[in-house]
Amino acid sequence: MALLSTPCPSAMNPAISQLKPYAFTQLRSRQDAMPGVRFVDLGVGDPQDETPAFIREALVAAITPASRYPTAAGLPELRRAIAGWLTRRYGVAVDADKHVVPANGSKEAIYNLAPLLLDDPSRRRTRELIAIPELAYQVYGDSATMHHAEIFTLPFDRHWLPDLNAITPAVGERLKLIWLNFPNNPTGAVAPLSFYRDVLELAGRYGFYVASDEAYSELWYDAPPPGLLQAARDTGFRRAIVINTLSKRSNMTAYRSGFIAGDPEVIAMLKNVRPRMGVATPEFVQRAAVAAWSDEAHVEAQRARYAERRALFLDAFTRKDVAVEGSEAAFYLWVRVPESVAGRNSFQFAEHLFERGLIVLPGGFFGPRGQEYIRIAFVPKIDVCREAAAILERVLEEP
Ligand SMILES: Cc1ncc(COP(=O)(O)O)c(C=O)c1O
Repeated sequence: MALLSTPCPSAMNPAISQLKPYAFTQLRSRQDAMPGVRFVDLGVGDPQDETPAFIREALVAAITPASRYPTAAGLPELRRAIAGWLTRRYGVAVDADKHVVPANGSKEAIYNLAPLLLDDPSRRRTRELIAIPELAYQVYGDSATMHHAEIFTLPFDRHWLPDLNAITPAVGERLKLIWLNFPNNPTGAVAPLSFYRDVLELAGRYGFYVASDEAYSELWYDAPPPGLLQAARDTGFRRAIVINTLSKRSNMTAYRSGFIAGDPEVIAMLKNVRPRMGVATPEFVQRAAVAAWSDEAHVEAQRARYAERRALFLDAFTRKDVAVEGSEAAFYLWVRVPESVAGRNSFQFAEHLFERGLIVLPGGFFGPRGQEYIRIAFVPKIDVCREAAAILERVLEEP
């Protein structure tokens, strides 16, 4: 699987040519170039199960004959539903007006956050740093690059947690924002509450913000993972920014609905600036979101579906003696490339599987530390997952 760079005409923002290739666009064009070939796709983390009927019905019921502009601050009912969910889920007191603003899914919220926190570049001698774990969802880095921040790459420790020792005083003093993402894409690792406390302690010491992308918070198999707001409760969420979404929890990727919650100063700023950005969520989507945040039964049912698929793959890998690391939560498994593959090269292994009709993501897409791993997203229905597991087992039996 080759990576293509992003060309940029000279009249445009030069940061565009520094963007890493977007893995999914490339994967899709490779598939498009092979019409008629059927692939089993464990590559893209896009849920394939239905959006629950009561959520679709709430959307349809909210479509009005006349159409008016929605507001970026969102319907009070939606902010209340989100605050209520956060309060129930994390046992923290969240105020619907002070601590929450809706977003059009988490991706736009992530992309649009950094430029609102960075200082005026003309007043700075050195560029500000944004810390991003060495394997991460691509949008944190793309946003930092496009807004001319310098990326500080945070190494992972052996538990797939960012190594906070890397934030030395020289780094901390230039740091504006650190990105966290647990349960993690791509590793599926979960962070303990003590980790969030340690990050907030550093944030207080140096004065940076902590942004926690908790898109996978509800896809767990043992116990619900902790979140940043729990660690920030005693400071009134100071410096803590949580982003979450209905995409994964409620199978609603097409709806584009999520939220930003936390530090009241940041939320007040977002309510001031976001109306100018064209990111207000359509009101019928907001009404569907109210229904989704107010119900847990559909999330439990979805977790049970994922648990069955996860167990299927874990069994297959155990039978074939293939190591699976991290992978405590989310719908990902972080699988070590078998020794039989030259140099345990993830691109080579993924290519080999692609030729046999199975799409997985090479860990190398996420950064050098992922080079010896592949990420599989167990999002297809159980029958398709069985097919995928059979292909994997056959490949792992090859001499
Ligand atoms: C870690 C992470 N954050 C955010 C997103 C984006 O989700 P949304 O659909 O809410 O934009 C994804 C999507 O795959 C993701 O993996």
